[in-house]
Amino acid sequence: MKKTIIQTQLLCKSFITDGEINNIIKNMDLNIYEGDFTVIMGSSGSGKSTLLYSLSGMDQVTTGKVFFDGEDITRMKEKEITKLRKEKLGFVFQGINLIPNLNVYENILSPTYKTKKDRKQIEKRIQDLMEKLELTNHKSKFPNQMSGGQKQRVAICRALINEPKVLFADEPTGALNSSQGDSVLDIFTKVHGDGQSVVMVTHDLKAALRGNRILYIKDGRIDGDLALAEYGTDDLAQREETVYKFLKAKGW
Ligand SMILES: Nc1ncnc2c1ncn2[C@@H]1O[C@H](COP(=O)(O)OP(=O)(O)OP(=O)(O)O)[C@@H](O)[C@H]1O
Ligand SMILES: [Mg+2]
Repeated sequence: MKKTIIQTQLLCKSFITDGEINNIIKNMDLNIYEGDFTVIMGSSGSGKSTLLYSLSGMDQVTTGKVFFDGEDITRMKEKEITKLRKEKLGFVFQGINLIPNLNVYENILSPTYKTKKDRKQIEKRIQDLMEKLELTNHKSKFPNQMSGGQKQRVAICRALINEPKVLFADEPTGALNSSQGDSVLDIFTKVHGDGQSVVMVTHDLKAALRGNRILYIKDGRIDGDLALAEYGTDDLAQREETVYKFLKAKGW
């Protein structure tokens, strides 16, 4: 039996725009399991990013509960949730949110400030991550001196620096070319292989193949839930066909 790491109960998220209520996530009951690489797919506007923000405590839910490791994060104080995010969660968001007045190296290091982690280990980890994501030569640059894809890779290093229990990623390969996208996915696969949990939103079939579970979101509800073998354990062509058929049946 897999352990549940994140659980939602009757999760609702609504926005009020021009006096009108829009219900985006609708009474969602969802379990995310520890050690899974969970992929979230669905058409544009279906609520994927909104769901990711709610699951990770980045945004307040409208009603319902979200449990992280058994603790209701919707009842946590801002300070507690900040601590949880910093120590246990990593994020790569659709809009890249680097700190403009810190350089690449400092941006990646920023989540480690005020943590009790061993500085030598952190230094080694940052060098490894920068090398893998081809950022070593850019370490002194500032965000406004970098391309979209480079900034995306900095955001990925930063999300991984504290070895989060859960890594959340919203379209992490969206701004990257194919080989850079593959490097990022290889890192995610490794993170998953090491036992960390990954929750990734993507439109990219190739990225989705890395998961061992695909959730399909339609109109704020879960419309499909596909279990896959671990990446690399089965025939890739067959895996691709399984995922493609699942998505086609959902109207993707
Ligand atoms: N802060 C907000 N205020 C008002 N409406 C919002 C807000 N954030 C999202 N929405 C609305 O919620 C709906 C879902 O948005 P969301 O960003 O979750 O979609 P998505 O599935 O991630 O789409 P995409 O694939 O295009 O990224 C959209 O109709 C959007 O306009
Ligand atoms: Mg989105």
